[in-house]
Amino acid sequence: MCGIVGYVGERRAAPVILDGLRRLEYRGYDSAGLAVLAGDHVDTVRRVGHVAALLAAVPPELEGTTAIGHTRWATHGGVTEANAHPHLDATNRIALAHNGIIENHTTLRARLEEEGFKFRSETDTEVLVHLVHKFYTGDPEAAVKTALGLVQGTYGIAVIFAEHPGVIIAARNGSPLVVGKGNGETFLASDPHALSAHTREVVYLEDRDIVRIEANGWTISRMDGGGVSRNVEVLGEEWAEEGRGDFSHHMLKEIHEQPESLARCLRGRVVPELGGARLGGLELSPRDIASIRHITVLGCGTSFHAGLVGAAAMEGLARIPASAEIASEFRYRNPVIGPDDLFFAVSQSGETADTLGAVKEVQVKGGRVFGVVNVVGSSIARTCGHGVYVHSGPEIAVASTKAFTSQVAAMLVAALSFARTRALGPHEGKAFGDELLAIPERVGEWLASEPRSVMDAVDLCSKGRFVFFLGRGVSHAVALEGALKLKEIAYVPCMAYPAAEMKHGPIALIDKGTPVIVIVPDDVMRDKTLSTIQEVKARGARVIVVHTAGDTHAAKVADISIPVPRASTLISPLLSVLPLQLLAYRAGLALGRDIDRPRNLAKSVTVE
Ligand code: G6P
Repeated sequence: MCGIVGYVGERRAAPVILDGLRRLEYRGYDSAGLAVLAGDHVDTVRRVGHVAALLAAVPPELEGTTAIGHTRWATHGGVTEANAHPHLDATNRIALAHNGIIENHTTLRARLEEEGFKFRSETDTEVLVHLVHKFYTGDPEAAVKTALGLVQGTYGIAVIFAEHPGVIIAARNGSPLVVGKGNGETFLASDPHALSAHTREVVYLEDRDIVRIEANGWTISRMDGGGVSRNVEVLGEEWAEEGRGDFSHHMLKEIHEQPESLARCLRGRVVPELGGARLGGLELSPRDIASIRHITVLGCGTSFHAGLVGAAAMEGLARIPASAEIASEFRYRNPVIGPDDLFFAVSQSGETADTLGAVKEVQVKGGRVFGVVNVVGSSIARTCGHGVYVHSGPEIAVASTKAFTSQVAAMLVAALSFARTRALGPHEGKAFGDELLAIPERVGEWLASEPRSVMDAVDLCSKGRFVFFLGRGVSHAVALEGALKLKEIAYVPCMAYPAAEMKHGPIALIDKGTPVIVIVPDDVMRDKTLSTIQEVKARGARVIVVHTAGDTHAAKVADISIPVPRASTLISPLLSVLPLQLLAYRAGLALGRDIDRPRNLAKSVTVE
């Protein structure tokens, strides 16, 4: 969603800001803008649409060396230039960009209007810039602090003042901000990606931090008074600057990166000598593991689907009662949390507001929650304090692919480690671990020889009115994920069901030629799923079957057969999801969609 970039230094700021905004495009946005300090006033340029439109509109004479920029994903007010950030105060001498939502903006706006302030946008944000103006008496930090004292809601903000060249004031409460350390220059961003061309040394702000940023450093204080120092952290190699390479889209590149991202996730964690696994970040002794009574895996979207596989592994392998729940529902149902319950919060970005809210709810109720997160230093990782980084590296395409498989792999490793304590002997543990360790290579082999039948499936699905995805057990999670991908990227309406549920209603939708994708690994549920295939075929469905290579019967009942390598049930999602990722990608391409930036979606959903 919304993104913030700031720069103070000696360079012309506008190109630095535009480059940063371009790097934040992947988060999803609908308009962009920047504000540059220019002598005694602030110049702003804002445009609806892509950063490219903003780039084209920025005049070369925009010379200032202090600037802030923003990409907006509309919440309050339509997608218009007037609603794009940064917003200006009445004197055009203060500019402010904001991520988050000011919940009491209606009351504040009414009060400010009574006092004579004129509003130029429909946004919740604009109240902030007028409040900062109202309280400004020469000290920019004090003005921002007083203004923020009146607001309820979430924010990451960046403010510049014409009277203070070389200074950005930024503050965070619920919306992430990082300060980047340069050489004689300092950067600000809502996401370290924006800074990857300039620095890997970053400082993560905490909620209720306010920072004064200058070219040669920064000072952080707390909203309620007092200074504070925060460590400079160095981002890992995998977060270094990355382009698309030879791939036409980030999504395709990320699909093909899965052998490496999975290897990175598993490396050093599966320990064949122990027949088990070691996850340093979990900090649970065997005694702690032995006393877990229930595990709940929380997440949204793709991360929830990975959580379904994780929960199945916790129960199936480690024999611990487990379930997965959509974080946005969990957080408001006043859940009962026992002292021996354990929670995992799964999130690629580590910033999803609903998942973060669920984490806080678990903590308020005294529960233990571990993050299963990709982005290092993200809000969920920091709030949980402990957990597992999945090490996918940057995922830029909005539709998650390599993060999904790494989340599943990380949860399988955690399940294996718990299982060694609770259920498995060393030989069974080793067999599972060995199979996991072999997965990156098998994923690589499958991707290198993608069956041609995937294209036949693309043809069928991109022409269909809607598509059904069916599976059982963990393959139902794969069906959900496949359907989500096809919706997100190709905008093809689809539904995913546990296969046996078809007869309880959805089968009424099957008509001559309806595409039905069925995930049927060769496991205990195979024969039952094959019966469902017969039922839908009898009603005219055209069936695409993702099945274990060598399962000739499954191949024969299929109209389109897509074989994937044999794997044990819990590991099978790491293989059976691959054709569904490629199906969505290729269908999106065939239908002329914006693959990496699908309409209406955001990569990092930082509002409820
Ligand atoms: C957004 C993205 C999805 C993602 C979900 C959860 O909706 O478009 O692709 O699965 O958020 O994101 P997270 O970063 O928490 O995994």
